[in-house]
Amino acid sequence: MDDQLKSDFPIDWERDATVSRREFFKFMTAASGGLVLGSVGLAVWATARRPRTGFAAKKIVHVESIGPGTSIGFAYPGERDLCLLIRHADGSFTAFTRRCTHLSCPVDYEPDRDRLYCPCHNGAFSARDGRVLQGPPPQALLRVLIEERDGAIWAVGLDERKSDG
Ligand code: FES
Repeated sequence: MDDQLKSDFPIDWERDATVSRREFFKFMTAASGGLVLGSVGLAVWATARRPRTGFAAKKIVHVESIGPGTSIGFAYPGERDLCLLIRHADGSFTAFTRRCTHLSCPVDYEPDRDRLYCPCHNGAFSARDGRVLQGPPPQALLRVLIEERDGAIWAVGLDERKSDG
C-alpha cells in the first residue's frame, strides 16, 4: 500500500522539506516590500487625517448674539468636530477645538479665569492662545481661525502651528 502511494505521488520529501537560498530571499524581499508599503500607507493615512487649513468658511453666530464673558459651541470643519467660540470680557473673540489634547475630553470655558478647563484630569488651557496652563495635556488646543464678516463671526480654518503648550 505504502509503495503504491509513493508510486502514485512521486515526491522527493527530502528536497521538499528544505528551503533554497533563492526561495528564502524571495520570501524576505516580499515581506520587506510589504512592510515598506504598509509604512508608506500608514504615513499617507496619518497625513490625510491631520487637520488642515483651507476648509470652507462657516458662519458661527452674529456678534450681538454672544455677550462678553460667554462662549458658544459649534462644529467645524465637520459636523462632529466640536469647537468653542469665546467672547472675552474685553469683547474680543477666540475659538478652539473643544477636544482636550490629553485624552480628548471636552473642555469648557471658565470666564472668571478666562481659561478652558478639562475636568477629566484637571487640565487647563489659555482661552487667549490655547497654550497649556496646567495638568497633563501634552500640547496646546488647536485654534480655529475666525473672521468677522458683516456683523457675524465665521470660522475660516484651523491653525496647524505646533505648540509645546
Ligand atoms: S483628558 Fe483633558 S486633562 Fe486628561
